[in-house]
Amino acid sequence: MGIDFGDPLVRKVFFDVYERLPRGGPGDRGSVARVLGLVGELPARPRVLDIGCGPGAQTLHLAALLPAARIVAVDNHPPFVARVAERVAAAGLAARVRAEVGDMAALPFADGSFDLLWSEGAAYMMGVTNALRAWRGLVPPGGRLAFSEAIWSKPGAPAELEALWAEEYAEMTDAAGNLARLETSGWRSLGWFELPWSAWWDEFYEPMERVLAARRASWAGEPRALETLSALAAEIEMMRRYAGWYNYGFFAARRDD
Ligand SMILES: C[S@@+](CC[C@H](N)C(=O)[O-])C[C@H]1O[C@@H](n2cnc3c(N)ncnc32)[C@H](O)[C@@H]1O
Repeated sequence: MGIDFGDPLVRKVFFDVYERLPRGGPGDRGSVARVLGLVGELPARPRVLDIGCGPGAQTLHLAALLPAARIVAVDNHPPFVARVAERVAAAGLAARVRAEVGDMAALPFADGSFDLLWSEGAAYMMGVTNALRAWRGLVPPGGRLAFSEAIWSKPGAPAELEALWAEEYAEMTDAAGNLARLETSGWRSLGWFELPWSAWWDEFYEPMERVLAARRASWAGEPRALETLSALAAEIEMMRRYAGWYNYGFFAARRDD
């Protein structure tokens, strides 16, 4: 593992892979539906903000599962935003779903602009606690939040796995740690669950394996590019080898006042 985003070639290869994937992290429609069940009742025409939307898989699931919702999807990588806009247009949803380039750390929306904040696998980019605090004002009192985040599933992980995660994401904690982050940031938990195995493979790692195989030929003769592809492949192998020790947790919460 270990992808050096400071290296322009590494960045290019990384996005060359990710821009070909249906999702930017684990997740699936069933999990969106399940966490919506935890989120509970929303206004009749809920205003939803999808933060760090990537290529927009969950944006489309939300649009399908909340047919009266108006959704704004934000990401700071313009090609992802363009992809979301294309997918939204193709699904005939442009009247109520909008994709925008934006920084999750400086979102340009007035307080109380949304009823539901959604963020799959992205809050960690600015630090989960920072995100939970910064985003809280975007919903009114009682407003809802759903976010997914890498977690330790049980204590006692093998040292090799701990070392890999320490390099990749040292702040990773367990579900209790995320519930504490919510509580200290002005949110009350409405429940959480771990993603099913299929949410890692069907729309994320299996497509990634196909893309990695295809891109190896394109980057032949570029050792740093091939190393980057290997680092991505190693992440997939890590999940095969250490499944059960870590996962993504999906957390639902309401603004606590
Ligand atoms: C792990 S991906 C998850 C994407 C998507 N939610 C999904 O599950 O498929 C994290 C996303 O956060 C975006 N991102 C990273 N930093 C950001 C920032 N400062 N502001 C907005 N988006 C950001 C990345 O471009 C990427 O699309």
